[in-house]
Amino acid sequence: MDQIITILKFMIKRKLFLLCAFFIFFHVNNKAQEITIIPWPQKVDVGQGTFTINSQTKIVYSGKSIITAKILQSDIRDKLGFQNELVELEDPGRGNIFFKNDKTLAKETYQLVISKNKTEIFASDNVGWFYGVQSLIQLFPEMDKTTAEIKSIEIPVVTITDVPRFAWRAFMLDEGRYFKGMAQIKLLLDEMARLKMNVFHWHLVENEGWRIEIKKYPLLTEIGSKRKSSQIGPSKWDSPMQSGEPHEGFYTQEEIKEIIKYAEERHITIVPEIEMPGHSTAAIAAYPWLGTEKSRLDVPTKFGVSDDVYDVSDPRCTQFLTDVLDEIVDLFPSKVIHIGGDEVKYDDWKKSESVQAYMKDKNLTSPADLQIFFTNNISYYLQSKGRRMMGWNEIMGHHLHEYQSEIDTKSTQKLAKESIIHFWKGDADLAVQAASNGYEIVNSHHNSTYIDYSYDDLTLSRAYAFDPIPEGLDPKYHNKIIGLGCQMWGEWIPTVGSMHFMVFPRIAAFAEVGWTEKGNKDYERFTMNLKKLENHWEQKGIYFAPFSFVEKNMK
Ligand code: ACM
Repeated sequence: MDQIITILKFMIKRKLFLLCAFFIFFHVNNKAQEITIIPWPQKVDVGQGTFTINSQTKIVYSGKSIITAKILQSDIRDKLGFQNELVELEDPGRGNIFFKNDKTLAKETYQLVISKNKTEIFASDNVGWFYGVQSLIQLFPEMDKTTAEIKSIEIPVVTITDVPRFAWRAFMLDEGRYFKGMAQIKLLLDEMARLKMNVFHWHLVENEGWRIEIKKYPLLTEIGSKRKSSQIGPSKWDSPMQSGEPHEGFYTQEEIKEIIKYAEERHITIVPEIEMPGHSTAAIAAYPWLGTEKSRLDVPTKFGVSDDVYDVSDPRCTQFLTDVLDEIVDLFPSKVIHIGGDEVKYDDWKKSESVQAYMKDKNLTSPADLQIFFTNNISYYLQSKGRRMMGWNEIMGHHLHEYQSEIDTKSTQKLAKESIIHFWKGDADLAVQAASNGYEIVNSHHNSTYIDYSYDDLTLSRAYAFDPIPEGLDPKYHNKIIGLGCQMWGEWIPTVGSMHFMVFPRIAAFAEVGWTEKGNKDYERFTMNLKKLENHWEQKGIYFAPFSFVEKNMK
């Protein structure tokens, strides 16, 4: 700073006013460049100068903000090596970081005011303070790994006023196909929290694997979590090649509880997905009476849509499903429970005498009618437990697949209004209609949010450009779009590295889609800020796709 003042004095003395103005402009502009926060906040006012954090900096909390004050303390310890003192209530000392209560600020909202003398984080609850801390940490300068000891750091003077655009900012991991394990889930939760994402959608049940212990039905994991081999090969779905190696894995309920607690500490809700009535082969392999065919089968070694479906006309099967949901509801505090509902092949229902008789009895005229009737019963069951059902948009009776005929998806049944529609496939009009009819929607359209797609097919810029509000939706229904999800489907990511490569950096683009006001988005700024994030990912041992690679695949 002293150097800058000297240069300015020199210019004024030499009457170099134009140069002086130019210099000031550039200096201030460069300061703006130092704000490298992803997702970009709603309002950023960059000031002059810096605030110093060193080992003498105290962290001042009051009341319940102690929880987040401790998080900041340990983050600073991890990053800088300082053990800052935590003190309660107003400390008149300068140079401190204050957690302050502002009851006028809504949930998740915060204000971060950094001046030369102090830093203040205003919020009305711990989630707001937590997001303030995430922004503060992203303002730390890049640390050189070779630096032996850090004495102090400078962060820019700035006022940030921030609030998310959408309430639902989700990342989904499919572990049905490949089990990744607790350490990877915790790593993903850490990165989600850093990016202010707040819903971890956990796809725990698939044809090729059942990944959660259910005490009442132990064979679900004893049999359903294991397969002999896995389809592999560059041609993916058409590949005749097999790994020839077994794959298995599941979470015990104790492990699930540990992960839920870890997520809660990071203000992330875990929404479990328990697929029904399709994507159920692993469960049917464990208990053959669950399927319409009632015959023994193996957990599949090939990926793709399966013919197997639950026999929803069998009271033992519906009892099984409510028993499973009982254990799910006991474990997961999430208000929303996802029941899948996608890609159901109707052939087995059409072939089953018992299913046909059941449909006749209930006056159901098409398989889609039966699916909606079944889904509504599950929805009412979950409502009786104080929860809310969510499912992929097939649960509305949308005709989305060529393996289903138009006639089979014609329905007269109406999906329960409380359902949350997870829109992934079909024309945007389907989402517009659903929202206009009062349904709440999470937009995860596959073309723009499926992270299993290559960087050619879903470029970083396309991911960034995604707008969850579908075109043509009347602004009076915009609030029906509660947010977005990005989905890491698991068929072709057998290893941790292949998963990281697909997730990072696209998850950061989706974080900004979910958080930042549309008018504040700026792809150039985002890609500039990504550089610092890449550094952070490298330090965390994340095998991200480097921007230089991602850029090559831009269209
Ligand atoms: C889906 O991709 N089957 C929801």
